[in-house]
Amino acid sequence: MARPAPAGQGWWRDAVVYQIYVRSFLDSTGDGIGDLAGVRIGLPYLRKLGVDGIWLSPFYPSPQHDHGYDVADYRAVDPVYGDLQEFDLLVSDAHRLGLKTVIDIVPNHCSSAHPWFAEALAAAPGSPARARFHFEDGRGEHGELPPNNWRAMFGGHAWSRITEPDGRPGQWYLHLFTPEQPDLNWRDPRVAADFDDVLRFWLDRGVDGFRIDVAAGLFKHPYLPDSDDPEADERTRDSVNPLAWNQPEVHTVWRRWRAVCEEYTARDGQDRLLVGEVSVPTAAEQARYVRQDELHQAFFFHLLSAPWNADRFRGAIGSALRDIAGTGSTVTWVLNNHDQVRSVTRYGGDSGVLGSPRARAAALLMLALPGAAYVYQGEELGLPEVLDLPDEALTDPIFLRTGSRRYVRDGCRVPLPWSGKASPFGFTAEGSAARPWLPQPAWFAEHTTDRALTDTSSFWHLYRDALSLRKQLPQLGESSLRWLDSTPDVLAFTRGDGLVVAVNFGDHPVPAPVTGQPLLSSAACPTGVLPGNTTAWWIADTRTLQ
Ligand code: NOJ
Repeated sequence: MARPAPAGQGWWRDAVVYQIYVRSFLDSTGDGIGDLAGVRIGLPYLRKLGVDGIWLSPFYPSPQHDHGYDVADYRAVDPVYGDLQEFDLLVSDAHRLGLKTVIDIVPNHCSSAHPWFAEALAAAPGSPARARFHFEDGRGEHGELPPNNWRAMFGGHAWSRITEPDGRPGQWYLHLFTPEQPDLNWRDPRVAADFDDVLRFWLDRGVDGFRIDVAAGLFKHPYLPDSDDPEADERTRDSVNPLAWNQPEVHTVWRRWRAVCEEYTARDGQDRLLVGEVSVPTAAEQARYVRQDELHQAFFFHLLSAPWNADRFRGAIGSALRDIAGTGSTVTWVLNNHDQVRSVTRYGGDSGVLGSPRARAAALLMLALPGAAYVYQGEELGLPEVLDLPDEALTDPIFLRTGSRRYVRDGCRVPLPWSGKASPFGFTAEGSAARPWLPQPAWFAEHTTDRALTDTSSFWHLYRDALSLRKQLPQLGESSLRWLDSTPDVLAFTRGDGLVVAVNFGDHPVPAPVTGQPLLSSAACPTGVLPGNTTAWWIADTRTLQ
């Protein structure tokens, strides 16, 4: 029996949401770029997989300097992805299939093609139009030096100088990512008011929630002082400059957004979700974002960043459950997204061969943890990262700005393989002149959805079986997790009444920590044995749980 989420009681609390990177999901028009109509075509596939909802990466009009995380209009659809009518059809199709629809919203910065920025460039220093952004005079005799020493996350200075309308070199504006993504000034009340309106625009169209980009951003230290370690963000590619991120005022915005969502819930009893990309150093700090009147959830990235190691996973899980779940929210687990090297490749070890078994084991662990989980498209196919895209194919602004392939994100964004033996693998209609916007390697043939659906040993079947058990087993709902004693390479825990989960992070088989009825495992388990790099779920004999 499925456990439907009752209206108004938090469908998101233990939901599994599938992240759709729209440009790489399915192309219905033959231009080599995925689109909203393609998403509609793929919805039955996701329903079959058994997820509870979808999160759509940005589809707004955008010059695509950061593939839509540079928004030129927050109330429209980029023609490359479709139009508002197509969006409405997508939401209604998703709802008919029982899938919640969460959209991405990008409040920290907009695109330099946004009308507000054009207005600011045309206006004078100190004008109300400039006040929506962070425009400052430069330092140095002629203002030729940036206002402070901050560096941008994607490389280079966090400030760019403009030419004033009269042709003279002028003020500088702040951009924590690329120069095409000017940061908004959230101390200007017009910014906050406009975003309230944007939320309502999409809520009125039926969306079930928002994934909030850079949710620890928005406010900068009011005096914009120099940083002691200006290269920290660029070096770590993480939001660690304490003057630029995680300022206390940001919480006022999440309270305000929560109130807008509650307004809609009060009307129809349906929960809306605010899930934040909250990159802060500790789980305890993250917990502050999911207090009762702020965000419902925040992605917990510490599992994603942990190496394949029992202690590191135990530590990450423990701190999440203690600090985040302690707020009344639920932990939002993630192993993959559009910014990270795919788990099959991350866990591969030197030879790479361990990547698939470990990624399967990690997935079965994540799907057994209390809380919600996000699955990134292709994760259910066991797709490895594409590591050998030629430089000329790369589009990630991190690469374009730094020339370094160290953090390049194109490799996890290659268009999905659906069918066939050669590119475009059903992503783009056969015979269309356009090629997929990133080249697909020949080995994608082993990972097509068609193939995964027919092969019962595929990643897809593992995810499908786990998602189906999540719906059937009450233990996998809100019940707590209790650690069991285990050997150093093994994590073992119970969920609720008698469900036991164990992960062997080592390479060698160990005795199974319980006797009982095996439910599901990421690799074949001989009776009484837990092979290396494997997760298994059992309903334990109660005797073995003392
Ligand atoms: C986080 C998004 O996930 C990433 O793709 C984007 O580049 C940055 N935020 C900037 O918006």
